[in-house]
Amino acid sequence: MRRTAVGVFMFASLSFAVGAMAADRPDWAFPVTDKAPPATLPDDGKPKSAPGSDRSYTRAQIEDLYNPPDWYPGIHPAMPAVVAHGEAPNVRACAACHLPTGTGHTESANVAGMPAAYLLQQMEDYKTGARKGSGSMLAIAKAISDEGNKASAAYFASLKPRVWIRVVEAETVPKTYIAGGNKRVIHPDHVFEPLGARIIELAEDENRLLNRDPGSGFVAFVPKGSVDKGRALVQAGGPQACASCHGENNRGTKDLPGLAGRTPTYLVRQLFMIQNGERAGANVEPMKAIVAKLTTEDMLNMAAYFGSLEP
Ligand code: HEC
Ligand code: HEC
Repeated sequence: MRRTAVGVFMFASLSFAVGAMAADRPDWAFPVTDKAPPATLPDDGKPKSAPGSDRSYTRAQIEDLYNPPDWYPGIHPAMPAVVAHGEAPNVRACAACHLPTGTGHTESANVAGMPAAYLLQQMEDYKTGARKGSGSMLAIAKAISDEGNKASAAYFASLKPRVWIRVVEAETVPKTYIAGGNKRVIHPDHVFEPLGARIIELAEDENRLLNRDPGSGFVAFVPKGSVDKGRALVQAGGPQACASCHGENNRGTKDLPGLAGRTPTYLVRQLFMIQNGERAGANVEPMKAIVAKLTTEDMLNMAAYFGSLEP
């Protein structure tokens, strides 16, 4: 039992029991650009490079969300126009945020290898507003053409999931702040702080993150013991076990997304938003009973465990 007898008794005897059972909003899983970011060195304006790539881009080119960099054209299939360039003026290039490899950044989503029908349904849910959680996606889903929608879903579904995040149990983490584009980066003070009951994800190489370079992924710092606790929770699921719907080893099915190797904070965001109703898309019903009684800590532990699995 995850709740103490005392806790159950208290909740049962109070009239606001139901509200008290819900998870607390895990702000660390919802990165929002800091209003007053610390002062950092200005960009030197010089073209940036990437290891093993013969291309170079300036910061302004990297930040062009209608023509984002493609550092390694050899590691992914040819991108349809909507993925590489979007549909101006309201649909920014998918590759700007999800990268040409679909693996994305921790503030967006790893969509590599997700079933096309699942991706299309999420676009529909964003369009109707039934799924919230990203202003960009709501605007994009409203504006995208049918053709662009189908082409992008087919492209991301065709990609092979790849190892993109390394889970490390830790007690302290580098102090961070949220830079432009909701990207978590190391604070210029270069000090450590307690991790506490959070997951903090950092780029393996911050310059490569800022350069939208899909050749280098992330490390997720998770609390000590969380991977084992998450494994125990997931395995205690019985017939409603996650894998009964999310596929063998939770690597997904032809209809449903995988959970293995996905970005842990992304998973926490989704579990939390399904629980509180911000994510209420057409197919979310089977998940509602599953998340109903989860605490924020349960969500964190399961996400740490899934992040540690091979996709
Ligand atoms: C400006 C950044 C940005 C751009 C451009 C962008 N996305 Fe996203 N996308 C996001 C964010 C952020 C999320 C995750 C929201 C969350 O955590 O709930 C997301 C999530 C998604 C999801 C849900 C994934 C899942 O597993 O349920 C789909 C599908 C998606 N995006 C498709 C697209 C497509 C297709 C395009 C191009 C037409 C695109 N996105 C362009 C930022 C972006
Ligand atoms: C009875 C079937 C079923 C079971 C069991 C189940 N899921 Fe799901 N899950 C779904 C469906 C269906 C969706 C897609 C929901 C949607 O389209 O909005 C989903 C979506 C999700 C998502 C969002 C994925 C993404 O890419 O955004 C997460 C996270 C998730 N499930 C976690 C879990 C976990 C953790 C468990 C086990 C504790 C679990 N699920 C068990 C059916 C199930």
